[in-house]
Amino acid sequence: MSIRYDGKVAIVTGSGQGLGRSHAIELARRGAKVVVNDLGGSVDGSGAGSEAAQSVVAEIEALGGEAIANGANVARYDEVEAMVKQAMDQWGRIDILVNNAGILRDKSFAKAELDDFKLVMDVHLMGTVNCTKACWDVMRDQGYGRIVVTTSSSGLYGNFGQTNYGSAKMAVIGLMNTLVQEGGKYDIRVNALAPTAGTRMTEGLIPEEAFALLTPETVTPAVLYMVSEDAPNKTIICAGAGAYSVARIVETDGVWLRPEEQTPEGIAAHWDEITSAEGERQPEAGFEQTVKFTGKAMEGLGLVDK
Ligand code: NAI
Repeated sequence: MSIRYDGKVAIVTGSGQGLGRSHAIELARRGAKVVVNDLGGSVDGSGAGSEAAQSVVAEIEALGGEAIANGANVARYDEVEAMVKQAMDQWGRIDILVNNAGILRDKSFAKAELDDFKLVMDVHLMGTVNCTKACWDVMRDQGYGRIVVTTSSSGLYGNFGQTNYGSAKMAVIGLMNTLVQEGGKYDIRVNALAPTAGTRMTEGLIPEEAFALLTPETVTPAVLYMVSEDAPNKTIICAGAGAYSVARIVETDGVWLRPEEQTPEGIAAHWDEITSAEGERQPEAGFEQTVKFTGKAMEGLGLVDK
């Protein structure tokens, strides 16, 4: 059965080109009404212009879909609030938010400027926070919401020259992890996309042959799945060139050390057990770590039966 979005309203940030454009067009093709948001401007976040969003709206209309253009800078809460109002005035609901807008200010950490760091955090992290915050009450009141944050392998695993970008991209995972707990009872599901795609952001960084395979259109199905009625929750889907996988944050089972071994030397002596993947699992919430550790300590100290 085909997955459709008839009657649903979606906001896709930074959808004037690249990945966002592809997400917006496919959502509209499958029935969603779409706010095509884009500040315009260059890959480093300088400048602005409204043509990009308008041209994607025209593409959607040519396909028989419904869309409106919006030029909000996601880093500015007042502009984001106005965007949400625009969608509510036009269509009266917001079901889907795809936080996609992003910029790059790559430099090795030794050469990094703090202002670049702050701007990258502002666009990726605060942009995602702003858009999510502005839609949150609408989605809670509706008892329905599907949110995607866009992370990156750069945040999950690290990439030379991308301390600012990697920090911001990992921060949105922290945001997702807690939002799912607070949004669960309102059927708000939050997932993350870790894409790899040939766009202006990666032009010149990826060999030409790979660039041709890494089309945004091969990534978009992962986003559409994450914003569907039967979406997963708290899942990081990695996608590129038609390949899909899931990234997880896991914790090893670990080991409780006797009081006399609770020393750096004790840690060194037990390093293999501490890092062993056997029994490793993905905690569902932060308190599980406290429960696990106190349980191990009570067992080790003979305060409970093994
Ligand atoms: P892109 O540069 O083609 O598109 C990003 C869009 O966001 C641009 O149209 C830009 O005008 C818009 N934008 C930038 N700052 C904005 C702001 N403050 N407010 C509103 N719109 C703004 O880049 P691409 O590759 O399509 O990236 C999309 C997302 O995917 C970004 O979050 C990026 O970090 C992420 N990503 C991309 C990867 C790739 O391989 N292309 C890899 C990992 C993550």
